[in-house]
Amino acid sequence: MQRIGIIGLGSIAMGKHVPQLQKINDCKITAVCDIDEKRLKTAGDKLNIPEEYRFTDYNDLISCPEVDAVEVCTPNYLHVPMAVAAVKAGKPVNVEKPLSVDLASTKPLADALAEAEVPNMMCFSYRFCPAVRYAKWIMDNGLLGDIVNIDVAYLKNSAFFEGRRLEWRFVKEKAGTGVLGDLGVHLIDLAELLAGDIKAVSGTTDIVVKQRQKEDSDELAPVETDDYAAFLADMASGAKANFMITRCAIGQTNTIKFDVYGTKGVLSFDLNHPDVLGVCIGEVDRMSESIHTVKVPKKFFIEQEQMFINMLEGKDCPLLPTIKDGLHSQRVLDAIVESAEKRCWMEI
Ligand SMILES: NC(=O)c1ccc[n+]([C@@H]2O[C@H](COP(=O)([O-])OP(=O)(O)OC[C@H]3O[C@@H](n4cnc5c(N)ncnc54)[C@H](O)[C@@H]3O)[C@@H](O)[C@H]2O)c1
Repeated sequence: MQRIGIIGLGSIAMGKHVPQLQKINDCKITAVCDIDEKRLKTAGDKLNIPEEYRFTDYNDLISCPEVDAVEVCTPNYLHVPMAVAAVKAGKPVNVEKPLSVDLASTKPLADALAEAEVPNMMCFSYRFCPAVRYAKWIMDNGLLGDIVNIDVAYLKNSAFFEGRRLEWRFVKEKAGTGVLGDLGVHLIDLAELLAGDIKAVSGTTDIVVKQRQKEDSDELAPVETDDYAAFLADMASGAKANFMITRCAIGQTNTIKFDVYGTKGVLSFDLNHPDVLGVCIGEVDRMSESIHTVKVPKKFFIEQEQMFINMLEGKDCPLLPTIKDGLHSQRVLDAIVESAEKRCWMEI
């Protein structure tokens, strides 16, 4: 039985991690931690966690003898110190994305892992979309030929939610970047998973909603992080890619669109239909569109938290996202930020 402790009991922990863990027989959530006492009580009661295993200090959760492995579900600036503490305690860790606020701040974690390798995972959640795993299988089997270009977009309308306040996502010190790190990092990971490393980037960002009311008063304060980002990328393979990420897309709640064009075919992915993939291989028809909708075979279905437990049990974990991947994508994020600031291309 794997005994899991969760740090940070906000929307991703309670909305995704907990429900997925609850479906797995050979694991149990044994401890929880949040600095917000109200959230700690609500989650603790819901999960029947004894009072002595409800913590407000993450160090206490990590050192708790009832915890074998740790999930880090806090705001971005806290991922590295919390993951470092888990690694130093020799406890496997699953860390939310993006790894941190910038590359420089990730060094203590890279150092800790160089000293003591413990099993670790990054929550690049869209690697667990069945259609993504199927696309990877198709591409690894050479059915698309050489990749020519990738066209990706992540679209949300959440910048315009009425009454949305200046939460941590809009504060540079806590989030690093805005939609770029929050949503764009998923796309960077997907593009690199499917088509290999990104070699160079040229980006632009914008803050569309420029002020929000503070969380603890009605005073307006500046939004410091982007809610629109776009970038071009040259892949090491020679393929080209373009990315658009926005939380200002009215009409879209959570859409990822992903088209991969190769010399022999195209794959077309839409997060609104994660169990099917648009496929056209070897058909070049002058007159009609020939992308077929294909149902993803069952063998490509696995949930993120099941993979975490599989990792803890030492089972085979194909396409496991690790902290190493998190470090790499942080490097790409930093390059996009620098490119947007300097208005030039940056090599990775
Ligand atoms: N993988 C995904 O698809 C996905 C989706 C959403 C969010 N996320 C990531 O998950 C993380 C959390 O996002 P969220 O939307 O759940 O945020 P949230 O604000 O809803 O929750 C964060 C929680 O962390 C708690 N917290 C803050 N400081 C703490 C501390 N020092 N010790 C313990 N708890 C502390 C807060 O009180 C809050 O309950 C972010 O890094 C975000 O990027 C990932």
